Amino acid sequence: MFEVKVISTGRYVPENIVTNDDLAKFVDTNDEWISDRTGIRERRISKEENTSVLAAKAGEKALEESNLTPEDIDLIIVATATPDNFTPSTACMVQEKLGAMNATCFDVNAACTGFIYATGIASQFIKTGQSKNALVIGAEVLSKIIDWEDRNTCVLFGDGAGAVVLQRSEEVGLISQYTGSDGTGGKFLACGTVPLKNPYIDGKDDFNGKLSMDGREVFRFATKVMIQCINKVLQDTEYTLNDIKYIVPHQANLRIIDFVGKKLKIDEERFYINLDKYGNTSGASIPIALDEMNKEGLLQKGDKIILVGFGGGLTFGAHLIQWQ
Ligand code: ACO
Repeated sequence: MFEVKVISTGRYVPENIVTNDDLAKFVDTNDEWISDRTGIRERRISKEENTSVLAAKAGEKALEESNLTPEDIDLIIVATATPDNFTPSTACMVQEKLGAMNATCFDVNAACTGFIYATGIASQFIKTGQSKNALVIGAEVLSKIIDWEDRNTCVLFGDGAGAVVLQRSEEVGLISQYTGSDGTGGKFLACGTVPLKNPYIDGKDDFNGKLSMDGREVFRFATKVMIQCINKVLQDTEYTLNDIKYIVPHQANLRIIDFVGKKLKIDEERFYINLDKYGNTSGASIPIALDEMNKEGLLQKGDKIILVGFGGGLTFGAHLIQWQ
């Protein structure tokens, strides 16, 4: 078995900044409510760029930093719950845009946990020798599935993309990972799509491609599984929470992160937080945060960090990483 390390990161967010005050112009809300309950102050909302465009731009930046050529990439996985199409996959569209013609390409849908799942899958490809250089991207245009009349949800989300290049390595980069799912909670965070309709049935269902959420249930679930995931990736390793320089959580809501910090007795500064600028970008939130940390020089070789996500499905997971 081979080891796996992160060799580069990238991100791309749409230019259009939408503040809480901007939202208050068309939905009954205000900056104070949104900031106090979530920590979100603004988000990026795409005007013309769909998910594959954001994904390709983030992927291109990670590729540039890696010093690899597009032809060196042999695997592209895009984590997204908001693909451009049913088919082709977003990953195949990214392949075409980047000219990465030696890559096997597919999408993974685990909602906000998508990047954690996709990184886990890519690492298995690398560990078993099937891949050497994998481009893993989390990309979302959530604005196209948001119900812009529902103040319970439309204030929470944003659009964006983040990417990493994972490479076969002699040194340990991914120390451990943990993932799980609970399909019984799918209804708490859902978005339908084209209904079952064909000449053989009475297709009465209407198109239901808008996001709905039970905020309290999601809060309960998120706080429980974040703690579970952090404990699980440390279990059976030589490390404890004290060895972890940063926790990079899925950027859903500051109150979720605060709650977990208090329970685990982790100082706020050890959580990397950027949700004030981007809102919840689902599968893109962790790689966007990772790229910001990388570019800000917060990560040194040997640092241990935990990436932890939770989301629709329900899904959850974490990686314990040693930065290389
Ligand atoms: N602006 C103003 N008022 C609002 C807004 C808004 N945007 N949204 C809801 N309200 C109102 C409600 O209508 C309600 O009014 P009422 O008392 O007159 O009925 C009041 O605020 C309180 O509503 P609650 O739902 O009880 O608010 P709560 O304190 O639970 O906070 C929140 C809602 C922030 C969504 C919370 O439940 C939460 O943090 N949930 C976690 C969900 C989450 O973060 N999801 C992110 C996406 S999921 C993911 O990434 C996996």
